[in-house]
Parts: sequence; structure tokens; C-alpha cells
Amino acid sequence: MPIQTFNFFTDGLQPGKRQLNEYTVDTDLDDDRRWIPFADGAWFQPCQFNASNGGFVVLLKANPGAQIPPHYHATSVIGYTLRGTWRYLEHDWIAKAGTFIYEPAGEAHTLVVDADATEPMITLFIVSGGFIYLNNAVEGQMIAYDDGFTILEIARTHYKSIGLDTAFLDRMIR
Ligand SMILES: [Fe+2]
Repeated sequence: MPIQTFNFFTDGLQPGKRQLNEYTVDTDLDDDRRWIPFADGAWFQPCQFNASNGGFVVLLKANPGAQIPPHYHATSVIGYTLRGTWRYLEHDWIAKAGTFIYEPAGEAHTLVVDADATEPMITLFIVSGGFIYLNNAVEGQMIAYDDGFTILEIARTHYKSIGLDTAFLDRMIR
């Protein structure tokens, strides 16, 4: 989301209310209401909001022709593709179902699903910190920011807007 200034930010829970125990999340790939709009033609279903390191874990879905704008990761990312195909403009590989991806800290990239792809891609991303959107992947200017807190806010806003219980999200805060 566009952010021009930064403030101290919390998970929004009452002090001491963040749970520490194990938990599970039953994602539902076929329920459109559970897919939270993220970018044009792209949605996510959260699995974790990490209020300890600012990271998050999501399933990302992106339609053929969709693009996640260029962004810089200050921390590493792990991905695992469940469905479809996708790639980064800055690399020469194509991820398909079963492809594991490791992205080192310091990486700037632009995620695309080619327009002629035959189905949406769905990929699990484990992101270990915030990331910065750029107007260009090379020598780019910073234009926006996301992390576990902004992703949580986007998810809560969507859940409230369509009448889903945000307690489902709060269970994922660690
Ligand atoms: Fe990324």
C-alpha cells in the first residue's frame, strides 16, 4: 500500500493477546470471498502475519496477464508453486506446479503471469520481512511498502467489508 510516512505499528491486539501456540489454517482455494484483493488480477489468502519480524505467509493467486509491480526485498523469501506458471521479468526461469523458489535478501523483481498462461497461478510465499515497491526494478524510486502489518490491515479491511469474521485472521498473528 502507498506509505509516505512511518509510525510505530502493532498487530492491533490488546497487550498480551497475541497467541504463541501452534495453529492450522484451512485455506479454501475455491471460495472467492476468501481471496483478498492485492493487485490487479491478484489476490492472497493469509496463513500467518508475523508481528515479530514483520514478515508474513500467504497463498498468492494471480490471473494470466497479471503483474505484481517491481519491489525490493530487504529479507529473504521462500516460495512453492501449487498451480499454474509464473516468472520474474528479471530472471530466465519459469516456475510451475512443484517449483520451489529461494530469493535472497537484496533481490528486486517483478512477478508476472504470462497472458497466454492457461490458468491462474497459486504460490505459497514465506516472506521474512517488509518489502518496498519501486517504480523500476533497476535504479528505481521507492513508491510504496508492504509488510506483515500492512498485509494484516488489508486482510482485516477486506474481511470487514464483506462480513467475514476477522477473528479468523487474528489467530494467524505470531
Ligand atoms: Fe517479491
